[in-house]
Amino acid sequence: MLFNHAPEKFWNLISSKYAASPIADRSAYETKITRLKTYLTPDMSVLDIGCATGTQCGDIASNVKQVTGIDISSKLLAIAEKRMAERNLTNVELLRTSIFDKTFQPGSLDVVMAFFVLHFFEDIDAVFKRVHELLKPGGIFISETACLGNKNKLMGGLLRSAGRLGLLPKINLLTTQQLEQSLARAGFSIVEKTRFSERSDAEFTLVAQKALSE
Ligand SMILES: C[S@@+](CC[C@H](N)C(=O)[O-])C[C@H]1O[C@@H](n2cnc3c(N)ncnc32)[C@H](O)[C@@H]1O
Repeated sequence: MLFNHAPEKFWNLISSKYAASPIADRSAYETKITRLKTYLTPDMSVLDIGCATGTQCGDIASNVKQVTGIDISSKLLAIAEKRMAERNLTNVELLRTSIFDKTFQPGSLDVVMAFFVLHFFEDIDAVFKRVHELLKPGGIFISETACLGNKNKLMGGLLRSAGRLGLLPKINLLTTQQLEQSLARAGFSIVEKTRFSERSDAEFTLVAQKALSE
């Protein structure tokens, strides 16, 4: 099966395996979530792009008013629905849609999160522009991205070729610098840049803010 024009098929196919795999560095994950909660208040509306099985949506749900998790994979979203029900979380909405969905209102969100999904977008400037548009003034964008452009060129080349051939979804070989420059072009200021894990494959968690007035 080829995935370059249908990435949702890839994610649906691996959904059970993905859902069963544990978080790579649990202690670093918990430190990160605790830290991210310092940006959240009970009146906030949050959007999680690429929510998959809803791990982060569920982990922050009791700290905010409402969480919307979006994803392209119906199978991962079905697992997320089940997990939210098991956790008795009633303020998490899960939708199979895209960040560019016109029903999302400009200036309506307090926080947008994007964990390990931005490298699946070809036009990162367009994504950041849209996130900026959806956030309220002073709103926060939290992201963690596999920056394969920072890493081993051979591995990056192989992944790019696999994407071109359709064996994997297409991967954008981003660098941390590209992400930061693109965030600045969209009008964000970086307020925090932390690597929560000591693992060699750990990525930076970037927290960026939309200006209070423009
Ligand atoms: C590596 S997983 C990350 C899941 C989760 N955010 C996490 O950190 O555990 C990437 C997820 O992004 C989703 N995805 C890929 N392209 C997407 C897009 N254009 N819009 C929304 N979700 C997307 C996939 O279906 C998958 O669930």
